[in-house]
Amino acid sequence: MKLLELRTLTARYGAGDVLKGIDIDVDEGEIVALLGANGAGKSTTLRAISGLVPHVAGDILLGGKSILGQKTEAIVRLGISHVPEGRRVFPGLTVRENIVLGASNRGRLSRAAMDREVGEKFELFPDLHRLRDALGWTLSGGQLQMVAVARGLMAQPRVLLLDEPSLGLAPLIVQQVFKIIAQIRERGTTVLLVEQNAHMALSVADRGYVLETGRVLVAGSPTALWEDPQVRAAYLGGLAAG
Ligand SMILES: Nc1ncnc2c1ncn2[C@@H]1O[C@H](COP(=O)(O)OP(=O)(O)O)[C@@H](O)[C@H]1O
Ligand SMILES: [Mg+2]
Repeated sequence: MKLLELRTLTARYGAGDVLKGIDIDVDEGEIVALLGANGAGKSTTLRAISGLVPHVAGDILLGGKSILGQKTEAIVRLGISHVPEGRRVFPGLTVRENIVLGASNRGRLSRAAMDREVGEKFELFPDLHRLRDALGWTLSGGQLQMVAVARGLMAQPRVLLLDEPSLGLAPLIVQQVFKIIAQIRERGTTVLLVEQNAHMALSVADRGYVLETGRVLVAGSPTALWEDPQVRAAYLGGLAAG
């Protein structure tokens, strides 16, 4: 079943379209990777889905219903949670407090329900359990990323939007983050994953799209993308060489 569909989506901040009519489908239960060079429009795509870009046209469907033009809070309530680029963990709040904030779209949760759900996040991120009372500013990049993802999951999304979760992390931590992304999908959450680390992203994804200056250059299975000469030349090859 198609869970999320972008239909000829255009988006701009001021003059000039940043997204120039993109079509992307995400099926329920999939991990879909959105790849592309810096400035291609990957973050703008996620921001447009979350209702954070001022001018959008075309359509965005969630479970077959248009969500275009809805406010961000409403979009979160409908089941789309966005873990932004840069993580945005509050430095003066503890790990647990930061995670709890992710449930703020859901009305009042009982203490018991909150404890149970935070506990589930600690199962997924055992390191965070140990750090539950640590303040945000004391955390490493990998720990901040885990807090940001745990917070995003507290919204109980149908689709989790992840923007560059591996950015700036050491290789071993990157592997951990991608393992967690695979586990999130196993637990039933669909994932749209923006990455510059094409190799890692395609290793967990079911399908991928490559964006180039606001257009879909090519879409397909991870293998097809790796073997596409145009993609290798335009993007993946360049990465490997760089
Ligand atoms: N808030 C903004 N205001 C104006 N232009 C922006 C804004 N955010 C991004 N852009 C422009 O949109 C283009 C795509 O940016 P972005 O979606 O962040 O790319 P990516 O995430 O693929 O690196 C870039 O040219 C960038 O400069
Ligand atoms: Mg970006």
